[in-house]
Amino acid sequence: MQNKIDQYTSEINSFNSSNAQELETFRIRFLGTKGIIKDLFEEFKTVSADDKRVYGKVLNEFKQLAESKYHEVKELIDSMVSDTPESKIDLTLPGDGMELGSRHPLSLVRKEIVEIFKKLGFNVAEGPEIEDDWHNFSALNFPEEHPARDMQDTFFIKKDKENGDTALRTHTSSVQVRMMEAGQPPFRAIMPGRVYRNEAISARAHCFFHQVEGLYIDENVSFADLKQTLFYFVQELFGEGTKVRFRPSYFPFTEPSAEMDISCTICKGDGCQFCKHSGWVEILGCGMVDPNVLDNCKIDSQKFTGYAFGMGIERITNLKYQIKDLRLFSENDVRFLKQFQSELI
Ligand code: DAH
Repeated sequence: MQNKIDQYTSEINSFNSSNAQELETFRIRFLGTKGIIKDLFEEFKTVSADDKRVYGKVLNEFKQLAESKYHEVKELIDSMVSDTPESKIDLTLPGDGMELGSRHPLSLVRKEIVEIFKKLGFNVAEGPEIEDDWHNFSALNFPEEHPARDMQDTFFIKKDKENGDTALRTHTSSVQVRMMEAGQPPFRAIMPGRVYRNEAISARAHCFFHQVEGLYIDENVSFADLKQTLFYFVQELFGEGTKVRFRPSYFPFTEPSAEMDISCTICKGDGCQFCKHSGWVEILGCGMVDPNVLDNCKIDSQKFTGYAFGMGIERITNLKYQIKDLRLFSENDVRFLKQFQSELI
């Protein structure tokens, strides 16, 4: 019996295969119901009691050896022919292209506006979107109960007669106030940000949109400086030859106030649906900062003067890309967003 076991042991030790059929033959030969191990155990029944003590252990170890060999080879074969997803990856196939996002058109235009003013020495500043009455209205020379407050439909967060209301800012002009309160002139900054108005959503109006505010305060700043700065801005943004015109207007925080039109970029001034056949489109409000606003912000209005302007980023984007429905900007439809690839990315 020992001889046989020694012989089979070396056979098992030297067995190796990558073939499932060969492994099955091995299993039947050693571990099958009519296999060698079964025979050896039959033979074991016939040996003397003394031999039983010796061979019991030997036989069990031999059985374990056959079993572990079987499992070892099986694992190897399984790992080669496994049908797990990893084993099916064909590394020679061409890869899937990686889809790159694109900048939102409003971000592209905001960035362009900011870059132009940076070249003129303007800093960029930001303020909170939840504002108090003082920064959004009172400091900007909107008297209490004055109808000018109705020019902008406000989303109020908290009505408070004593300490003033809290609201979502209706314009970025509130950031002017924060900037002036925080220091002394000269100030030269632009302030991009999101603003909110209580309006029904349609193709032409939305309850939130984006503005860029501009402020320049120093000694001897004049309306001529304002005109020249905005003229330069328009040439840079819309191209040389774009015309500008100023129309008198009213804002509580500027005196005098104006609105600026540019020659329609779509029809080049010939008249089209976009410019309502006038050849001109309005792009911003502006003016000389009202001395009351300077005083409210503890700036000496005898010594300093300044100009301010404010424009809607959506409006400028519409002009640049001829987008006719404001809702597209916030619906996040990738078919719309994908169209705005830019070298500015
Ligand atoms: N805040 C105004 C608005 O939202 C825009 C504006 C007009 C800002 C004139 C200004 C300005 O700074 O001087 O309609």
